[in-house]
Amino acid sequence: MENAIKLNIDYASEFVAQDSLMAILKEINAAKRLIDAKTGAGGEFLGWVDLPRDYDREEFKRIQLAAKKIRKQARILVVIGIGGSYLGAKAVLDALSPYYHKGRRLEIVFAGQNMSATYLRELSEYVKTKDFAINVISKSGTTTEPAIAFRIFKKLLEEKYGLEAAKERIYVTTDKTKGALRVLAAQNGYETFVVPDDIGGRYSVLTAVGLLPIAAGGINIRDLMKGAAEARSIYRKNNGLENNVHKYVAIRNLLYRKGYAVEMQVTYEPKLATLAEWWKQLFGESEGKDGQGLFVASATFSTDLHSLGQYIQEGKKILFESVVRIENPERDIVLEKEGSDLDGLNYLAGKTVSEVNDQAFLGTLLAHHEGQVPNVVFTLSELDAKSVGHLLYFFEYACGLSGYVLGINPFNQPGVEAYKQNMFALLGKPGYENLRAKLQKKNG
Ligand code: PA5
Repeated sequence: MENAIKLNIDYASEFVAQDSLMAILKEINAAKRLIDAKTGAGGEFLGWVDLPRDYDREEFKRIQLAAKKIRKQARILVVIGIGGSYLGAKAVLDALSPYYHKGRRLEIVFAGQNMSATYLRELSEYVKTKDFAINVISKSGTTTEPAIAFRIFKKLLEEKYGLEAAKERIYVTTDKTKGALRVLAAQNGYETFVVPDDIGGRYSVLTAVGLLPIAAGGINIRDLMKGAAEARSIYRKNNGLENNVHKYVAIRNLLYRKGYAVEMQVTYEPKLATLAEWWKQLFGESEGKDGQGLFVASATFSTDLHSLGQYIQEGKKILFESVVRIENPERDIVLEKEGSDLDGLNYLAGKTVSEVNDQAFLGTLLAHHEGQVPNVVFTLSELDAKSVGHLLYFFEYACGLSGYVLGINPFNQPGVEAYKQNMFALLGKPGYENLRAKLQKKNG
């Protein structure tokens, strides 16, 4: 099977000891055994490992039908969710949709990922004059941000269409049996989809969590799953450093041990910027524990070469880059000769914009490498549903392995609770009286 992703670590490997790449393989193999046997920390959340092979075909068909129905009944789909409950869908939609959607049948907008009143008010005003539907996504069914957004948009929908007709426009993705959303869906007869018990939010893009909005956006989810299935059969093999996931996990952990504590995912294709957001959540929430973990950041070049570029080239040597690039861009533009060459660009006549972008990549790679910034380069032949599915699985598997190499549980997120507890106490939620008193004292 031909690998849809090429990985080049030549511009990074000289920053680590020559024999360390082989040496760390032992740790990666041990991590792999934990995943295979499901005996590592959080081993009950490994449903994503075989998902591309074992996914629920019946639900998959229902997702495709629901997507079709949404496209018929609405001009806007409001996807409500936060963290793993929206980032994967947004990442895939942004990667695979045209930049400008004018005239498209269905527009997909997101809510519940922030609590800006201005955002919610302006989005409400934008959607209420058009036909719309809602896909509310929350595994727990109790997360504050999406719960608030759902209240607002459900009310809007009920006012617009009436109680009964509104029910036909609400699609719920949540736990199979538990949680407030499950109860509400049963009471009202909303169509529901399942977030499997053994898959945590940030690993759920290939479940109904991601698939319904992605399919509604007109993306071929069968191809997406095919790409992930291909990746699964390639990377689950135990073939040392020939396995690109092993290679990536090895180099990022070795660089981390050498003091490169920041990994910056870089793309030269702005369509991939949200995929970097998804990747940041995946790795950040999985690895940042027990005072450890790489800090994950992202940048879009050449845009950010004019903001972050100075720091990367000459600032503190704490970061390395992992570049995700597309070999054959979807579209191109040939640069033409002009009579007067005032801007001095006639030397580019006959070249395409993507050729210029490629040389910007190469020039940056060489400059940053020269500036002691290690670079890892992923190359995708094409930006299509299959290669994106492949990439999603690649990073999920790398994250699971890398977390175990770091010695942490990559499948929980205890640190996310601290702000929630304080927020509940400050808002006066019953049961939080003592914490509220403590916080008020602290805050003067
Ligand atoms: O990765 C995770 O588990 C989190 O980011 C969750 O997806 C996020 O907190 C939303 O949780 P829920 O789907 O329960 O509303």
